[in-house]
Amino acid sequence: MIVGTIMLATFLLGLLGANFHPVQAQLSRAAPEGPSGQATQPAAPVRSQMVVAAHPLAARAARQMLRDGGTAIDALVAAQMVLNLVEPQSSGIGGGGFLLYWDANRQQLITLDGRETAPAAAGPDRFLNDDGTPIRWPDAVGTGRSIGVPGIVPMLEAAHGEYGRIEWGQLFAPAIDLASNGFGVSPRLNLLLTGMGPDAFNEEGRNYFFDETGEARALGEVLKNPALALTFKQIAARGHIALGSGPIAKSIIAAASEPGVATININDLRDYETIARPPVCLTYRGYSICGMGPPSSGGMTVGAILGLLEASDLGDQPNAAAIHLIIEAEKLAYADRNRYMADSDFVDVPAGLLDPDYLAERALAIDPAQTMGRAEPGTPPELAAMPGRDHSGENPGTSHISIIDQFGNAASLTTTIESAFGSRRMVSGFLLNNELTDFSFRPVDDDGRPVANRVEGGKRPRSSMSPTMVFDADGKLWAVLGSPGGSRIILYVVKALVAMIDWNMEPQTASALGTFGSRNGPAELERGADMDRFASELEALGHEIARPSMTSGLHIIRVTPDGLLGGVDPRREGAAIGD
Ligand code: GLY
Repeated sequence: MIVGTIMLATFLLGLLGANFHPVQAQLSRAAPEGPSGQATQPAAPVRSQMVVAAHPLAARAARQMLRDGGTAIDALVAAQMVLNLVEPQSSGIGGGGFLLYWDANRQQLITLDGRETAPAAAGPDRFLNDDGTPIRWPDAVGTGRSIGVPGIVPMLEAAHGEYGRIEWGQLFAPAIDLASNGFGVSPRLNLLLTGMGPDAFNEEGRNYFFDETGEARALGEVLKNPALALTFKQIAARGHIALGSGPIAKSIIAAASEPGVATININDLRDYETIARPPVCLTYRGYSICGMGPPSSGGMTVGAILGLLEASDLGDQPNAAAIHLIIEAEKLAYADRNRYMADSDFVDVPAGLLDPDYLAERALAIDPAQTMGRAEPGTPPELAAMPGRDHSGENPGTSHISIIDQFGNAASLTTTIESAFGSRRMVSGFLLNNELTDFSFRPVDDDGRPVANRVEGGKRPRSSMSPTMVFDADGKLWAVLGSPGGSRIILYVVKALVAMIDWNMEPQTASALGTFGSRNGPAELERGADMDRFASELEALGHEIARPSMTSGLHIIRVTPDGLLGGVDPRREGAAIGD
């Protein structure tokens, strides 16, 4: 594996200094970190530094790094490694992610692509039966076809090389300690294992996650993962190269293999590159909303939705008329996403999709009095393509970490192994992803057009992950956020942004707010949440209503004059803690 040189893609945000003070030696005012299984947040703003992550143990490991003088990237590495252990269903070193990093000193926003990659020998027929029909998703997920070359460790190591203060090896200490001495199985882990059952896993996974009778590890059971402790020790000592060579690489290649399929080989592991991409930024109500560009569709689709809404008045609190407008904007943006967005190293993703004139014209299709039904993709102006590398229901398989450190640096990482427990193939104590199922299984559409997101060797599957940072009109960092949730991630992030910017909600309220939106299908209203009160008004506008459970994991930090405010999603088990 070779980590590509990080070419700093910078976005200069004004001449003003960061909106932070030197360390203020206030003790934590965080609420007690609570029993596992309940999201927890500080009772009051904290002054200096904050972490919001999907498990209290991960948040604590990150906070320890911050207290030891580390930066947001140091804290992030510690949190990711602990999450691999305690929330193995959602992320880990067998997966990938996208990172936004705000370097307060240089006033630069960097976006790094650590997305999993298709093996070089993969082709467009990867997910086709012999008769040319696409295979069923359940028949792909637990197979070697689905496993991409993992990217999270190379990406974190590259970012740490540039922005870390604490020695790399030390960042693994909390995870090694917990893997060696054990952690309590959380309600969510127990529930997901019980639902999945032992037969879904390979032998190593089965033996680790289930007892001899096939029962999932019990709630509160102290679980140790000595194999992962050993792997962490090797990465701590040798960096990502420990995964791309030697016995761990051999075991990855063996676990990913599938008869008759071009699966990961040693060259794929060795050649993996972390790619610095330009951030995608768009102005909404005077704020710069910045996110991740292709191969994620997140930044562009969030930006397009907000651009389509820029001229609309959404009121000062949730209301049916505003929800209708947001849903219509989402339909238009998802239609464009599905047609045009994929890995920009392989296909031309039109930058014109975010052209303000294009969005203003497309917004004319939004009728406040009735739904448009299903949206068709538009024809964006022929502006330059998004640069590739040569140009300089619930988805429990993803997690989001937001961090701001005492220096004013910030990290927003959405990290994934794709589905719950990824490919369910465990090796050397960690799970391999099934990220390649994010490719389109069909290489051509019904009209014979090549699908932008078709499989190609070395390509990265389209993502919806939307790590986001918001800057105010003076260029000061205003919010750090993101969420898991598969293709609904975009809906969750848009909801949180509208809730904080238009409806003036604090991050905790925004995160907890019932979810609504559309991926160019029915209007989705979160089952059992307060948004159902808008159903009849939306039906009167012609919407077909669906009520799925929408388990977001919105983890938000807002910078306010009174300090840092956290938002931790009550639908998950995370914690917002700080000092
Ligand atoms: N696998 C989730 C995503 O990349 O959107």
